[in-house]
Amino acid sequence: MHLSVLTIAILTHIPPLIATPTPLPYSEWMATSFLSKPQIKVDRHYVSAVLYEGLEKAASLHSNPSLLNHTSTHLTSLLSSNGTLKGWSPTSYSLDDLRIGNNLLHHYLTTNSTLQKTNFKRAATSLRHQLNSYPRTPSGGFWHRAPKYPNQMWLDGIYMADVFYATYTHLFDRANGSAWEDIALQFDLVETHCRNATSGLLVHGYDESKSAPWADGVSGASPHVWDRAVGWYFMALVEVLQVYPQELSGYARLRGYFGRLAEALRRVQDGGGGWWLVMDEGDEGREGNYIESSATAMFAYGYLKGARTGLLESGYRETAKKAYGLLVDRFVKREENGTLSWEGTVLVGSLDKNASYEYYISVPLSENDGKGAGPFMFASVEMEMWQGS
Ligand SMILES: *[C@@H]1O[C@H](CO)[C@@H](O)[C@H](O)[C@H]1NC(C)=O
Ligand SMILES: *[C@@H]1O[C@H](CO)[C@@H](O)[C@H](O)[C@H]1NC(C)=O
Ligand SMILES: *[C@@H]1O[C@H](CO)[C@@H](O)[C@H](O)[C@H]1NC(C)=O
Ligand SMILES: *[C@@H]1O[C@H](CO)[C@@H](O)[C@H](O)[C@H]1NC(C)=O
Ligand SMILES: *[C@@H]1O[C@H](CO)[C@@H](O)[C@H](O)[C@H]1NC(C)=O
Ligand SMILES: *[C@@H]1O[C@H](CO)[C@@H](O)[C@H](O)[C@H]1NC(C)=O
Ligand SMILES: *[C@@H]1O[C@H](CO)[C@@H](O)[C@H](O)[C@H]1NC(C)=O
Repeated sequence: MHLSVLTIAILTHIPPLIATPTPLPYSEWMATSFLSKPQIKVDRHYVSAVLYEGLEKAASLHSNPSLLNHTSTHLTSLLSSNGTLKGWSPTSYSLDDLRIGNNLLHHYLTTNSTLQKTNFKRAATSLRHQLNSYPRTPSGGFWHRAPKYPNQMWLDGIYMADVFYATYTHLFDRANGSAWEDIALQFDLVETHCRNATSGLLVHGYDESKSAPWADGVSGASPHVWDRAVGWYFMALVEVLQVYPQELSGYARLRGYFGRLAEALRRVQDGGGGWWLVMDEGDEGREGNYIESSATAMFAYGYLKGARTGLLESGYRETAKKAYGLLVDRFVKREENGTLSWEGTVLVGSLDKNASYEYYISVPLSENDGKGAGPFMFASVEMEMWQGS
């Protein structure tokens, strides 16, 4: 007996959409979908920077000329004609504002216009120079923001600043050993202060002066493991390891941090493939806690890129595949007009507040959030490279 697909769909209550062929690979599908959304912003903030990095990766992998044109036009619109980021000030210190530097370097490398090349490099160089006078903790860690978060390092900031710092150094200042050591130091500091030796996971951040209300009296650490902070950090490791010179001593340390965290994360992956918003042991399934989409996408990406580039053993692809399956089934929403939306991403997590479990779970979810959709595109690009679609 033959049942038609439609009959099966009705019998099993599977929406008929499942029988519709995927019109585009997910990375490109999500990228083009976002261009039709009112949420998409034209600014130099890190959320746009991350979302646009997803668009850039999708555009490059699939050689999509209109997406390529879109990202380059977008970035150009953020610059003055003399190659400075509009509204940027060298004395406004926030690591979040350095994230856009990665987009500048990507387009510096890919543009065919000499004028654009000059301008993208000029803007990136201003960001790099800012780091030379950027406020630091007594041990040399960049403050997450100044003057707002004195002596505080957050895992988020490692991704925002140090991937750019490393890529810039790789392109333009490769022989600068103190820059490379400085980059590794940022990772060393958070590993020393934030990592739990038993679980291998890192808490959200630390205050070297121990004066924040949440700071531990000995380590200065904040109390909880927040999934997205670890996600940013995991991605920072895989990206920096792509460009960090292997002959320098920092490389082995970073590689060790990455391998150890990969293992720790695999141990706490939920049976369904995702990761909990608050990742401390014993908080799985606790009231208010939930599987969060942005970090799940970031971990999937880190595993896939780590495996592709030989930093991780290939068995981690299975960890990622399971996570990716959950993203597609549960957090990618198919709209009636054929576009995709993105769900399940927590709006924010900040050490500005009381850093308690109750705080983290009280933050609402936000729809079509670039902090999740961007990393979903990163992970999709890796899946598509792996599976050759
Ligand atoms: C498709 O629908 C979504 C959700 O309503 C909307 O945000 C988007 O702008 C629409 N896109 C197009 C191309 O109509
Ligand atoms: C790129 O996009 C801009 C702005 O949307 C448009 O004016 C231009 O014609 C496009 N160029 C190409 C080559 O598609
Ligand atoms: C570049 O242009 C902007 C805006 O027009 C201006 O504020 C800035 O001073 C200029 N910078 C330089 C280095 O010329
Ligand atoms: C630059 O030129 C190359 C080779 O002609 C082409 O493949 C590529 O698409 C161009 N890049 C952009 C951003 O237009
Ligand atoms: C090398 O890097 C260090 C640390 O960031 C910086 O202070 C110095 O200016 C850099 N040297 C050059 C020649 O750019
Ligand atoms: C460190 O991790 C272990 C194992 O997950 C846990 O039992 C312990 O409470 C954690 N320590 C701190 C200070 O969070
Ligand atoms: C911390 O903040 C949350 C909400 O953000 C609140 O529910 C909780 O009671 C606060 N905890 C303390 C110890 O102040």
